Order: sequence, then structure tokens, then C-alpha cells
Amino acid sequence: MPLVIAMDGPSGSGKSSASKGVARALGLRYLDTGAMYRAMTWWMLREGVPVDDPAAVAARAAEPVIESGTDPDGPAITVDGADVSAPIRTREVTNAVSAVSSVPAVRERLVALQREIIGAGGIVVEGRDIGTVVAPDAAVKVYLTASEEVRAARRAKELAADPAASVTVTRAEQARRDRLDSTRTASPLAKAGGAVEIDSSGLGLDEVIEAVLRLARAMS
Ligand code: C5P
Repeated sequence: MPLVIAMDGPSGSGKSSASKGVARALGLRYLDTGAMYRAMTWWMLREGVPVDDPAAVAARAAEPVIESGTDPDGPAITVDGADVSAPIRTREVTNAVSAVSSVPAVRERLVALQREIIGAGGIVVEGRDIGTVVAPDAAVKVYLTASEEVRAARRAKELAADPAASVTVTRAEQARRDRLDSTRTASPLAKAGGAVEIDSSGLGLDEVIEAVLRLARAMS
């Protein structure tokens, strides 16, 4: 089976940059499953669905048409045909996404879509439950971590344009999101069986990419 590389880990661990880099180096496709949960959340907020009400979220989960591209140099994400790449990155969406992604009806729908896209393989897939649920047979499974401090600093840098996103605020919001993501009942963030843990705190991006490429080479 063509290669599937599962990249799981908490927010700010450097998953996106590393996953895209690995996909480029190996000529593979790339799927950002977090963007799909964000797109669902963006749509729920726009529709005025109370995101903290799991029944209300579940009742509407089948409605939005979410499509994701797989180009590591510009993975487009659309909802009902409209590009939502930028609006799904706002703090409002970021702070609501854990509630929406904890709803089983949301996960069932998006996991089915993700498996369709993964198809025959040849892809790097990043998320929280790729090695555990979405693609448990992936040849390479990585659990990417970094210290809480390093992760918060990375996120704050990404959000530098937002004056309210200081390192302190970002750190608190991130800790809350990671707590919700790892304690929910439906597919919580967890290190998959067979996953190799890479702590990126003291590593540069190239070193993380190289570590994953070594694992991929060892598999082929
Ligand atoms: O990776 P990113 O930070 O963009 O993910 C946003 C959110 O989507 C996560 O905090 C989590 O709640 C949810 N998510 C998930 N399962 C995945 C990917 C993301 O529940 N496979």
C-alpha cells in the first residue's frame, strides 16, 4: 500500500510545518484534518448554532459541504464552495473548535471524509486521532510534542497580528484546548500504539522533518 504517514500531537507542536515539509520531500499529498474541524466550527458559528450544546451541533453536522485539497503548498479548504482558509484561523474559531470536535456526529462525518481523501495512500495526514482512529494501519505514525512554553510561543507568533493574543493569553487558551482535546470521550488526543514520539522543543524544523524522513525510509 502506498505510504500513509500519520502525524498527531497537541496544538503548536509544529505538526503543520513538519507535515508539509515531509510531504514535499517525498512528493506526497498532505491533509490537514484540523482545518476540517475548524471549517465545521466556522460554519456552526456563522449559522448561530450554540457550539456548547452537543445536541444542537449534532443536529446540523450533516449540512455543510466541506472539501479539502491535498497540496502541501496550498491546501485549499472550502465550505459550500467558498474558500475559508483565512476565517478558520481566527481566535473565535480556535476557541470554539474543541467543543464542536468533541461531538461524535461531527467526528463520524469528518472521519469518513478523511478516509475517502486518504484513499489508496501516498499522503501525510496531520491531526489528533490519525494513528489511533482515522488510519490505524498507517506505516509511519508520529506523535509530535513540544514543551507547553515552546508551543505557546509558536502560536503567539502565528497570531502576532492580533493584539489580544499575548503569550500569556495564548498559553491559557491553548492549555484549555489541549485539555479538552485529550479528555473528551470521542477519540481523544493520544499517542497511538506503534507511534514514535518526537519532542520538537529543542529541534529546528529541518531536524524534525529529517527525523520523520528517517522513519519513512526505514519502512520502505
Ligand atoms: O490542528 P488544529 O489546531 O488546527 O486543530 C484544531 C482542532 O480540531 C483541535 O484543537 C481539535 O479540537 C480538532 N481536531 C480533532 N481531530 C483531528 C484534528 C483536529 O479533534 N484529527
